[in-house]
Amino acid sequence: MSQQRKTDSIEIAVIGGGVIGLATGWRLARSGKKVVVFEKKEAGRGAGWASAGMLAPQTEAGYEQKDLLEFSLESLRKYPEFLRELTEDSGIKVEAGKTGSLFCALNRDDLERLQRFFDFRQRLGFPVMKLKGEETREKEPYLSPRVTASVFVPDDWHLDSRKLLAALKTAFINKGGLIHEDSPVTEILLDGKTAAGIKVLDPKTKTEKEVKANTLVLAAGAWSSQIKGLPENLIPPIRPIKGMILNLKAESCPLSHVIRAEGVYLVPKQNGRLLVGATSEEKGYDVSPLAGGIKDLLQNAFDIVPGISECPLEEIQIGLRPANRDHSPVLGPSPIQGLYYAAGHYRHGILLAPMTALEVSHSVLTGDFERLKPFSITRFFSSAAA
Ligand code: FAD
Ligand code: GLY
Repeated sequence: MSQQRKTDSIEIAVIGGGVIGLATGWRLARSGKKVVVFEKKEAGRGAGWASAGMLAPQTEAGYEQKDLLEFSLESLRKYPEFLRELTEDSGIKVEAGKTGSLFCALNRDDLERLQRFFDFRQRLGFPVMKLKGEETREKEPYLSPRVTASVFVPDDWHLDSRKLLAALKTAFINKGGLIHEDSPVTEILLDGKTAAGIKVLDPKTKTEKEVKANTLVLAAGAWSSQIKGLPENLIPPIRPIKGMILNLKAESCPLSHVIRAEGVYLVPKQNGRLLVGATSEEKGYDVSPLAGGIKDLLQNAFDIVPGISECPLEEIQIGLRPANRDHSPVLGPSPIQGLYYAAGHYRHGILLAPMTALEVSHSVLTGDFERLKPFSITRFFSSAAA
């Protein structure tokens, strides 16, 4: 019997089944395209699984990141409609809560930082408010008496990112998408300057096979720079930034806002859960929970909300944030015909999922990528290699 090797052929291959790959795949499938997501482990279990689910562009606005800020604000505006359509396609209702954030100060250094934080946001026209210590505790009685001032950012939202991932996965499948799990993509195949397909490890035979596809979306999060096949200048300069969050059962000190302070944030979730995050560690692809990180998070959280010392620690969540050199994502078409990027969302992948999915799928479907120009891979061409 001949041992002829079978080569599959598909319309669109999405590399990576995280929040970005699933969201983009779903939008493409919703438009009638035949899409297959290739996921090296389990879809929905990447960095998004560890995320705090904050949709907080006003609080997280960086000083020199105008394009990213505009994109983030637009993504937040798109969220209600995005979630409505997601519920329509998945049957899963993902609720986002507009709780606002309190950015708290404990000492003189913090006060200086708080003032700069406030001034910058006021200049941008955000409806931020400065509060004294007592006013802050009126909003959040469980805060430490050591909190001397805060800035209230009323327009921040958050959601349950694991529920979002479950909904994206279901919606994608319901719209005809296919997910191949335990199927790492090892190589991107090119035919000159055109995308030709991928090489993927078959989960059953553990051998590589070729899959033909003329459209590829690279959405492999922190691993997007690790897949072979691209010329050097088209490999996105993405590295992993490890983040650890502690999941506490905090019924004894309920909070109703997201609380932020130097080195920590606390995000109250349903059923008395409180997320305490997050570390930011340059440890390559290592995801082991380190004692020092746990100690720092608990100490910083305890300084703000002393009652947490009585709370059971239920889970340690760890994820690798995908960070480009300039901490902005790389999105849209590449100089290779048929190859698109949707990678490098760093600390904002949950927030940026709607705009990324809508705009990347729009560019695949129509060729128009005007809105994605600030995030093109070409911005790295002139800068020195890291
Ligand atoms: P991932 O979610 O990591 O998904 C990438 C997927 O690709 C993974 O499933 C991986 O297994 C798969 N993959 C990798 N290589 C291959 C391959 N070769 N073949 C096939 N599949 C592959 N963002 C917010 O907006 N708000 C927050 O509050 C927030 N909090 C965070 C807290 C922490 C602790 C962390 C770690 C992140 C947080 N983020 C937050 C950031 C957010 O989680 C990321 O930006 C987002 O998950 C990136 O999505 P992604 O799909 O690109 O990557
Ligand atoms: N955006 C929160 C984090 O990445 O930790």
